[in-house]
Amino acid sequence: MASSLMVVLPLLLLVVCPYAAVSYPAGTCRYTRLFSLGDSLTDTGNFASLSPNRSVLAFPYGETFFRRPTGRFCDGRLIVDFIAEALKLPLSTPFLLGKTAEDFRAGANLAVSGATALSQQLFRDMGLDLTILPPYSLDVQLEWLKRVLHMLAPTGPERQDIMSSSLFLLGEIGINDYNHPFFQNRSFTAQIRPLLPKVIKKIENATKVLIGLGAKTIVVPGVIPMGCVPRYLTIFQSNDPGDYDAAGCIRWLNDFAEEHNRALRHMLDHIRPRDPTVAVVVYADYYGAILEITRSPQKHGFRKDVALTACCGDGGPHNSGKLIACSATSILCPDPSRHISWDGIHLTEAAYQFVARGVLDGPYAAPSMLSKCRR
Ligand SMILES: *[C@@H]1O[C@H](CO)[C@@H](O)[C@H](O)[C@H]1NC(C)=O
Ligand SMILES: *[C@@H]1O[C@H](CO)[C@@H](O)[C@H](O)[C@H]1NC(C)=O
Ligand SMILES: *[C@@H]1O[C@H](CO)[C@@H](O)[C@H](O)[C@H]1NC(C)=O
Repeated sequence: MASSLMVVLPLLLLVVCPYAAVSYPAGTCRYTRLFSLGDSLTDTGNFASLSPNRSVLAFPYGETFFRRPTGRFCDGRLIVDFIAEALKLPLSTPFLLGKTAEDFRAGANLAVSGATALSQQLFRDMGLDLTILPPYSLDVQLEWLKRVLHMLAPTGPERQDIMSSSLFLLGEIGINDYNHPFFQNRSFTAQIRPLLPKVIKKIENATKVLIGLGAKTIVVPGVIPMGCVPRYLTIFQSNDPGDYDAAGCIRWLNDFAEEHNRALRHMLDHIRPRDPTVAVVVYADYYGAILEITRSPQKHGFRKDVALTACCGDGGPHNSGKLIACSATSILCPDPSRHISWDGIHLTEAAYQFVARGVLDGPYAAPSMLSKCRR
């Protein structure tokens, strides 16, 4: 019974991802901790702890699952929460909310909403308004990780044990490197697109740093389809039907997201250790998962008429106008579980759950994270 699964799953993965066929080392399915880095797709409270007056700490954030705002830019749980749940791990403490080793026994969430892969200084040099661009880029989050590791295990061998038995979710990170300049009217061709190779280099460095620290399982997600995001649909609306694909998403923005993801996968294929006992590096295809529910919403329990409309927002065709986040005075949908977009930028818990399942069980990860657990 188990052996047939073992044969079928790797074959499926080869079809999905012919260039990145890797397998897990035997018997390493159970993790003791989860460490995550990234931005608001993964932040479970760091950003909110820095700015207690932000709307993310008010209704209706958290209304579906926690029944109170938690600092997550969502109506409920994020992908990282679903992954922890599936692996039977407690939710890890946001770095800025923990103090002692005990707080980080289950790992740490180092992600900060608004964070970029590249340093904040680079965006300062571009002349951007930094109000919602925190100085906690990928390199800073890696330094936080080192501090947590030092707290958990002052000696080398202890730290090795922790690194090898933990799961690392490296991202999603990078979309804010594009979002911030896009939202501040910067030129795509002259200023935004040239950032792409630098962003990939930063993620490459972070992956190598984690492997160097002894991480054995690293999941690196790509960016989401930006052309299907309500806020982008509002900002870059066009009268030319040729600018849109069959699902109503903006082609050139999705092409750009795909370009980022191709470069990311190519980089990972290049640096992934040949020997999976050294480290397994998984690419998580958030893009493919979200495109699937956007193109076939009804098949997955979402409403077709609002597939490109925020559940909570300030009106307009996509219910997403100028405001960055939604609030108690926003136009709120009756049932977030049938929407893909929560607040015009971030996704609903229902959408995150679909992505998480696709990463855990396949086909939206190569290899799928749980395939090695089924024996
Ligand atoms: C947060 O809000 C409270 C009350 O609404 C106000 O007194 C305080 O000055 C605000 N803090 C910041 C940092 O804006
Ligand atoms: C790589 O990451 C580390 C953080 O651990 C940082 O100190 C270093 O500057 C980074 N190098 C590059 C080239 O980005
Ligand atoms: C961006 O440009 C639009 C229209 O040209 C303008 O309405 C808006 O205020 C600008 N935003 C910023 C942040 O400069």
